[in-house]
Amino acid sequence: MSYFAWAKDMVIDGGPIDKDHQHLVDLVNELHSATSLGQGKEVVGEILDRLLTYTSEHLTREEQLMRLAGFPDLLRHQQGHARFIAQLRALKCRYDEGSLAVAAQLSSVLRDWLSLHIRRSDKEMKGYLQKQDSRG
Ligand SMILES: [Fe+2]
Ligand SMILES: [Fe+2]
Repeated sequence: MSYFAWAKDMVIDGGPIDKDHQHLVDLVNELHSATSLGQGKEVVGEILDRLLTYTSEHLTREEQLMRLAGFPDLLRHQQGHARFIAQLRALKCRYDEGSLAVAAQLSSVLRDWLSLHIRRSDKEMKGYLQKQDSRG
């Protein structure tokens, strides 16, 4: 059983958004394995960099798709993304300052936020993207 398991109730579009989310799940698991194995800053730092870059790229991509679909609640969704990125950046700063324990904390923060955000907030967009599809 993986630390962060992908589940059917996380499916949003059967396409690019799911691919992004699955990749994020993989990266969170990779980070968790590295920190549980007590790997050093070089390994953990490299995974963290990839994870943070991919997270922010995903959130931007998702916002673009919502914009294209004319998703009415885009602003609120975007604010949720921005708050999360700010939280991640603050944790990453503490990690860079030398707190190795923060890396383990980051994997749980990422897992919990992604799990809830995909199932609740991203799901609101799911209905909307499907509506767009059936019209077009
Ligand atoms: Fe997402
Ligand atoms: Fe989102």
